[in-house]
Amino acid sequence: MDLSKDYFSNKYNLMHPHSEIVEAMPQLKVGKALDLGCGGGRNSLYLAQQGFTVDAWDHNPDSIQKLDMICVNESINTITTKIVDFNGMDFSGQYDLILSTVVLMFLQPSSIPNIIKNMQNATKIGGYNLIVSAMDTDDYPCTLDFFTFLFKPKELASYYDGWTIKKYNEDTGLLHKTDQNGNRIKLRFATLLAQKN
Ligand SMILES: C[S@@+](CC[C@H](N)C(=O)[O-])C[C@H]1O[C@@H](n2cnc3c(N)ncnc32)[C@H](O)[C@@H]1O
Repeated sequence: MDLSKDYFSNKYNLMHPHSEIVEAMPQLKVGKALDLGCGGGRNSLYLAQQGFTVDAWDHNPDSIQKLDMICVNESINTITTKIVDFNGMDFSGQYDLILSTVVLMFLQPSSIPNIIKNMQNATKIGGYNLIVSAMDTDDYPCTLDFFTFLFKPKELASYYDGWTIKKYNEDTGLLHKTDQNGNRIKLRFATLLAQKN
């Protein structure tokens, strides 16, 4: 398999793998990963390049079909896709890494505690969770109605009491979407990399 970080993005018009998974990679143990909300598969493909066996789940059949097509084209047999709606879903497993980048903000608020509990229970001791999701804060309020769930300050970290927090921040980031003045909308994003004890 071609191991260049840009290989899949260049060839299949995907975004580059999320910067947080690329940054986390040196401290991760290669093994089994679950990509919750894989979209077109930029992170799943990157993880497969690094030697992970990946379960890649999303509710969008077009995204899953695109990822399946890439896997066939590239003779990748270490990514297993599934079409699934995370709202109200339970899952189990023994993963070394479960990641969900810019996905939780599209779920029903009532689903969040359960999906995080499932992520935690399905992570091996010593394994990692990586989550990036948008926030609603006093300094950067979010009024966009296409985000159905937004973390409040410190909310994501509070789920991970008892885990070793390798990274946590609520830094600002820019959406591609612009406001009425044509400026890209700025929000805070909760970013967490935590290791299960
Ligand atoms: C902004 S994309 C992020 C995709 C990928 N994680 C990434 O970083 O490129 C959000 C993804 O969440 C998926 N998604 C949204 N709501 C979902 C749901 N209820 N169940 C499963 N997947 C969902 C969408 O289909 C989409 O692929």
